[in-house]
Amino acid sequence: MSSKGRPAPSAAHAAVVIPAAGRGVRLGPGAPKALRTLGGTPMLIHAVRAMAASRHVALVVVVAPSDGVAEVRSLLDSHALPERTDFLVVPGGETRQESVRLGLEALPAGHEVVLVHDAARPLVPVDTVDAVIETVRDGAPAVVPALPLADTVKEVEPAAVDGEPEPVVATPARARLRAVQTPQGFDRTALLRAHKEVDGEVTDDASMVERLGLRVVTVPGHEEAFKVTRPLDLVLAEAVLARRRRNDGF
Ligand code: C5P
Repeated sequence: MSSKGRPAPSAAHAAVVIPAAGRGVRLGPGAPKALRTLGGTPMLIHAVRAMAASRHVALVVVVAPSDGVAEVRSLLDSHALPERTDFLVVPGGETRQESVRLGLEALPAGHEVVLVHDAARPLVPVDTVDAVIETVRDGAPAVVPALPLADTVKEVEPAAVDGEPEPVVATPARARLRAVQTPQGFDRTALLRAHKEVDGEVTDDASMVERLGLRVVTVPGHEEAFKVTRPLDLVLAEAVLARRRRNDGF
């Protein structure tokens, strides 16, 4: 039994690292992005609840802004969260990648499945979380929720000056492209190895595992798992929350 008098989690239970140390400058001035509220509750609390909603998640590690660890700890203490889940808060780094690595270093032994979830995706449904965990348990070293694209995507030669016309160099076939979301799920050993061995800027964790030559697979993503990045995303997130509250008293 654990210190809280409940059964100790088995190795099959997942741990989640939530990088939440970004400033969120694209959202405009104000609090760090993860601490902005949606429906009166900080985005980070929504994200933590979305992960802890899965019965397969035993631990959530929140990576806080380095000057915001105490604030994030007291936020977690002051909001209702499931009893069966443990929570840790650690300080983050300069880049998302560094913040994830610091979160991974804080993981205790015993969780063979590790998820990485952006605090900026507060509304991901629990079915998506469970699908990712199950696919890792079935043997995939890395799993990403993914959606087909509505827009055609062009590769360009980026202009030196913002707003200048940019030459298009390629148009990948849209039917083969996917937009990927989080939580991304990993076999713990594969993810730790990727963070140790892969250098260079990346925008997600799965691409680091790809660079090791390991198999990365997709599961269906969800339109409500979108990333809150720009001011319009906040409007959409509020609308999704309002719809949930109307539909099922969420
Ligand atoms: O900037 P972007 O939207 O890609 O950030 C994705 C996630 O990474 C966010 O949840 C953000 O808080 C986190 N992040 C972090 N540490 C950084 C930069 C971003 O934890 N230094």
